[in-house]
Amino acid sequence: MMLRLVKNKVAPAAALVGMIAGGLTISHAAGSYDFDYEMKYPHWHFEGPFGTYDRAAMQRGYQIYREVCAACHGLEHVSFRHLGDKGGPYYDENYPDPNSNPYVKAFAADWLIQDIDSETGDTIERQGTPADKFPPIYPNDAAAAGSNGGAIPPDLSVMVSARGGGADYLYNLLIAYDEPKPEKMVISPGTYFNPVMDGGAIAMAAPLIDDIVEYADGTPATVDQMAADVTEFLAWTADPKMEARKNTGLMTMIYLTILAVLMWFSYRRVWRNVEH
Ligand code: HEC
Repeated sequence: MMLRLVKNKVAPAAALVGMIAGGLTISHAAGSYDFDYEMKYPHWHFEGPFGTYDRAAMQRGYQIYREVCAACHGLEHVSFRHLGDKGGPYYDENYPDPNSNPYVKAFAADWLIQDIDSETGDTIERQGTPADKFPPIYPNDAAAAGSNGGAIPPDLSVMVSARGGGADYLYNLLIAYDEPKPEKMVISPGTYFNPVMDGGAIAMAAPLIDDIVEYADGTPATVDQMAADVTEFLAWTADPKMEARKNTGLMTMIYLTILAVLMWFSYRRVWRNVEH
């Protein structure tokens, strides 16, 4: 199976031109059937040197993860308290310590955590606390594969940085299910046509359909909106320190600029009386 990137079905030699021009089309040759998909590039709030995460979008994205994706996908590198960290979706300056943030506490308590009773040694289930990590969805890979026709839903914590194309890849993967399947292309049972997935078939049924959730903030829950929101949330889980890093970068630039100006004046002063 071959994946090549071409612009508007021109020869592969035009691929580079296409990438520079920004309008990228994914062309797969799946078996003997070719299909094209025009990648969409929404403007991400977190892009660019000063970009920050959009809090409202991240909060909606968390709702999508909780109510839709978490049926199958874990988020094992994230703890509940991270949701209330500075830069996180539920940071609240009244509760700088996320362990006391009421949203974080409520979200944690909404999950059941497998634990060991410290007195009896028995396995127990208890409500989550801010210090807990998001629990695994399945007890092991065999159970995950068994529930998903043999395919294992990957953990989503760092998915946005794990796949080439990052946020754009995830967003397009989620919205591309509507694309028409090439007529004669045969998809094996338990898989679905998705032109963004390598090979054009994925073992995940379209997870998003219009109004599958009712957004807490009243935003209309279109597939496009939900795909963008969950992508914003998962971009944050993959890089929660991005804002702090950009901030440090900015302060360093300001410092270096002031230093450069001072150096220039002292240079002028030192050489003031020297004849050229
Ligand atoms: C009913 C179970 C189920 C739900 C719900 C679900 N997924 Fe999946 N997902 C899967 C399975 C199974 C795979 C593995 C597919 C494969 O390997 O072909 C997968 C794969 C993925 C992948 C990896 C694609 C790749 O490039 O390999 C991403 C990203 C993903 N899902 C995101 C999501 C998001 C975001 C949501 C929520 C909006 C979601 N999934 C909801 C079952 C699910």
